[in-house]
Amino acid sequence: MNRPAGSVALLDLEPARSDFLEQAIAGLTSSPRILPSKFFYDERGSDLFQQICELPEYYLTRTETEILRRYMPEMATSIGANAEIVGFGTGAGIKTRMLLEELENPIAYVPVDISKQRLTESAEALAREMPALEVLPVCADYLQSLDLPTPARRPDHIAVFFPGSTIGNMEPHVARDFLERVARLCGHSGGLIIGVDLQKPRELLEPAYNDRAGVTAEFNLNLLVRANRELGADFKLRRWQHRAIYNEKASRIEMHLVSEGEQSVHLGGQKFHFDDGEKIITEFSYKHTLTGFTALAASAGFLPPRIWTDAKKYFAVFHFTTM
Ligand code: AVJ
Repeated sequence: MNRPAGSVALLDLEPARSDFLEQAIAGLTSSPRILPSKFFYDERGSDLFQQICELPEYYLTRTETEILRRYMPEMATSIGANAEIVGFGTGAGIKTRMLLEELENPIAYVPVDISKQRLTESAEALAREMPALEVLPVCADYLQSLDLPTPARRPDHIAVFFPGSTIGNMEPHVARDFLERVARLCGHSGGLIIGVDLQKPRELLEPAYNDRAGVTAEFNLNLLVRANRELGADFKLRRWQHRAIYNEKASRIEMHLVSEGEQSVHLGGQKFHFDDGEKIITEFSYKHTLTGFTALAASAGFLPPRIWTDAKKYFAVFHFTTM
């Protein structure tokens, strides 16, 4: 196909808006109540998350980037030449660029992201910078199973790149199903490069989700702003409070929105009643161990990994492969 330089064709599998409506109603009807974290990332939410990544308390992004910067040559060798790279939620694309620049003769890059605008912009920028690389962006929810486009040139193998510890949002059984699907997607002698946040004392974890500038609180509350705008809900923002606590037993940060006083909210033609202090769970962020995560991936069909970490063992990047 002939396209003007810098333009890329987008495969559009964007979920319908009714997806948000259905899941919001189902989540607010369940006990405990839930609004799924994947809906954080509208334009404002993606902006706020970008700001979170730069907060002094939020060590995750900084630490992962440091690991990638330091060990990318080893990672690229470990992946090998002539690879097709599938990127999940790779966003602004800085980490991907680090990878693609280091790889020997990458065949194609298939970024999969839910945020269409960011996806298109970063894919076009990348296509301009690396004209030899075939860029095939897909706007989709990568948590669902996917049929990905086939590059024009045949790669020797497929490697999925999933940085950012987004796997932390998944409960263990969901993470296992997801990893199984990834193992299938990358086929024989495929690979997965994945960033995973590690367990550490509460005193380090909780501030990362309760920053002094209040950005995480705004990020959390933006879910209600979005529900008001897109679903016609009537959440009164001043009557909901951000809370993030470490549930040590489950090894996860839990983000909640807590009702201040008793109140009712209308959404999708229904009325939801909240008691004073009642919570809506908006996010789980699981913290893993090196052995725990290795075992989880093994149960999904991956071979023992190579692992890179920072000196304080705050964060890890794993390279898993399949037979
Ligand atoms: C993008 C899922 C890795 O869990 O740390 C940041 C999202 N939530 N602050 C995380 C998030 C609140 C983030 N992940």
